[in-house]
Amino acid sequence: MKVVSIRKNPQWAETAKAYCEEKWSDVYGAFEDTLNQCLQKENRLPETWIMVGGMQEDEIKGFYQLCDAEPVENETKRSPWLTTLFVEPDLRGWHYGELLMNHARYEAGKLGFDKMYLATDHIGFYEKYGFREIGLERFAWGRPTKIYETDTFGKVQLAVYDEKNLPGDETYLKVAAYKGGYTPGENGAMALHFEKYFAPPDCFAKKWFTILAFRGDELIGRINFIRSSTDVRHWYLGDLSVKSTERRKRIASRMLQRGIDRIRQNGNGDEYICAYIEEDNTASICLHTKFGFADTGKCQPFEDFVFGENETTYRMNL
Ligand SMILES: CC(C)(COP(=O)(O)OP(=O)(O)OC[C@H]1O[C@@H](n2cnc3c(N)ncnc32)[C@H](O)[C@@H]1OP(=O)(O)O)[C@@H](O)C(=O)NCCC(=O)NCCS
Repeated sequence: MKVVSIRKNPQWAETAKAYCEEKWSDVYGAFEDTLNQCLQKENRLPETWIMVGGMQEDEIKGFYQLCDAEPVENETKRSPWLTTLFVEPDLRGWHYGELLMNHARYEAGKLGFDKMYLATDHIGFYEKYGFREIGLERFAWGRPTKIYETDTFGKVQLAVYDEKNLPGDETYLKVAAYKGGYTPGENGAMALHFEKYFAPPDCFAKKWFTILAFRGDELIGRINFIRSSTDVRHWYLGDLSVKSTERRKRIASRMLQRGIDRIRQNGNGDEYICAYIEEDNTASICLHTKFGFADTGKCQPFEDFVFGENETTYRMNL
């Protein structure tokens, strides 16, 4: 049995619709609508997954969908939602439902979500699979429903290191080997940079911290924050990167937010953070602008750092 993405295998779309219409006609309208969106939208959600196997190896035996929203009243920004989970009646009792739920938790985790939600009136079923009931709501059309949440797999964890909490050798080696989407030449420079900042006695900056993002044991993102040696309000943000296969999952946003929160908590409120961004780095410009950084239009000096010709300073006042 395998689980197949309709987005990646649109040749299954019509068979999947016919299967749903035959086996679970009550949800057919919503299922078809979501499936059509998978085929049209470039976003990663919604997505429809079908379980395929059987004697002929090509029969649909179940499905589920992962949506970015559910039509429940008082909905906040919870996302994503596991919907229309279905297993072929003959196969029930063989843990295929669990397989699909775990598949959904894994896929949601890959998309960068720590939690996944579910609206259901089943009693005592989803609890067995690690879902927690977190509230009672109404669907937009009035029927009451319970809301559940569960943790996804492959959760991304952030670790913060500073002069008092240096990483162990193993982490240090991961950082030195980490490419993070940079070219090898740049990576060499980054490794040297790390040697400098993970060796505080020789480091000019008395205040600095590094945030690393891990998925399981794998290092997938990093960012450095360094305070100016002459102005305690002035923080530099640098070496922000996320592994290329892990981008657009809000990992940079989470690291950035963690750093900003930390400076806010320990500061007086008049701090400012500067990032240096190349004029053609759309991803970084969009990310920083979203956080409230503004382009100063010039490249302001920071210690003895050397910046590229097309980099300008983006500043955010805390
Ligand atoms: C810049 C970088 C760190 C962003 O990491 P990321 O984890 O993908 O960023 P996020 O998922 O947190 O993105 C948050 C927001 O930034 C914006 N953004 C991120 N990447 C974008 C892109 N390629 N194009 C347009 N906007 C983008 C979006 O508004 C995004 O929100 P959305 O996904 O909800 O639309 C990553 O692209 C990277 O490592 N690039 C190479 C290294 C680099 O350039 N570092 C910055 C040096 S200044």
